[in-house]
Amino acid sequence: MTTLDLDYVRAQFPAFADADVARWAHLENAGGSYAAGQVVDLLTDLFSTAKVQPEWDFGPSKKASAAMARARTAMAATFNADADEIHFGPSTSQNTYVLAQAMRPMWAEGDEIVVTEQDHEANSGAWRRLAATGITVREWHVDPVSGLLDPADLDGLVGERTRLVTMTHASNVAATINPVRRAADLVHAVGGHIVVDGVSYAPHGGIDVAALDCDVYLYSAYKTYGPHVGMMYTRRALLEALTHQGHFFNESHLDTRVTPAGPDHAIIGASAGIVDYYDALHAHHFGDEPDPVARIASVSSLFAAHESALMAPLVDLLLDRDGVYLVGAPSADATVRAPTIAFHSDGRSSASIYDALIAAEVSCGHGHFYAHRLVSALGLDPDDGVVRVSMVHYNTHAEVARALDVLDSLL
Ligand SMILES: Cc1ncc(COP(=O)(O)O)c(C=O)c1O
Repeated sequence: MTTLDLDYVRAQFPAFADADVARWAHLENAGGSYAAGQVVDLLTDLFSTAKVQPEWDFGPSKKASAAMARARTAMAATFNADADEIHFGPSTSQNTYVLAQAMRPMWAEGDEIVVTEQDHEANSGAWRRLAATGITVREWHVDPVSGLLDPADLDGLVGERTRLVTMTHASNVAATINPVRRAADLVHAVGGHIVVDGVSYAPHGGIDVAALDCDVYLYSAYKTYGPHVGMMYTRRALLEALTHQGHFFNESHLDTRVTPAGPDHAIIGASAGIVDYYDALHAHHFGDEPDPVARIASVSSLFAAHESALMAPLVDLLLDRDGVYLVGAPSADATVRAPTIAFHSDGRSSASIYDALIAAEVSCGHGHFYAHRLVSALGLDPDDGVVRVSMVHYNTHAEVARALDVLDSLL
């Protein structure tokens, strides 16, 4: 069985060649990953030589247009979608905000939407605010101990007037992979739509919007080894049905429907470097494969095996200690949860555990991580919140061991 060549992986990231970066065990990836060299090179080139208005006929402008078109096609493969269903926005928070304005006119007063208590506020607040416009907002609560959503609870929340279910594929705190397809089937059966926040899922695996049957899927490329840009897939039929948010004279353009502002051209162009990175990994581990979606899927399976092994000792240690609570599924299987490990302890504040990890040069965080409602539902003070250590495929066992040493003596 092919396994991930970690030396090759880490050599793709300029950050790890920097002594000040490398001395930290970087376990704060759910907040933001380092960028692959392919992204850095593209960004440097586009900023240096093509940072002009695209779509004109002079050389640098043509280069900028070509880079953007290439990125749109390349990034569509990360969703298994068509290029014209992909939008680049400033961030996931801004994409959901625009989307909520664009979808609201599709609904009547008294229509219902379902939001979760588990989501990052980016995929929650913009929808909940629609209550002020006559929409009934129903909440899918979490279990107050595990932080998990019970899929069966959704059955009782979706009814004839449900127009939308908005949920996370994997929370940035509970990390457990939610059954999106089940929810999609439920809401589609009553003629509604589903919007899925994949920000915490996307760094770990290829996304298949066709298999999930979702109408909107969002993620943030700065967590998937790329630049700071929000990626959004919107099913073509929904894109046509929602209210155009761009300038009036662009109304016939699919690509401006949920993009009110001019985009950052170079950032968009550079995002193709994410897929160039995945392709380099694929070529190194597997050789040729003509289908870009299949290449990403193969690379994702290498990530999953490595990430399961990385999180296993951490999950074991946390489950083993009395008075210590792991949020989300008690599993180290990457098909069950992302390797984002959030926990809290009866005996110690999260701030004190965080301080000890930082003193040992383990990058991590504590608090609510904008999953304020989830952390509150766990009965915690959101400011102290949970401690979160989060891995991606480029992490090493030595980095995790450094965190383990601290936690073993502390908990
Ligand atoms: C699960 C999740 N959703 C949404 C967001 C918001 O993304 P952005 O910073 O692109 O608005 C984050 C950011 O941390 C996140 O972790």
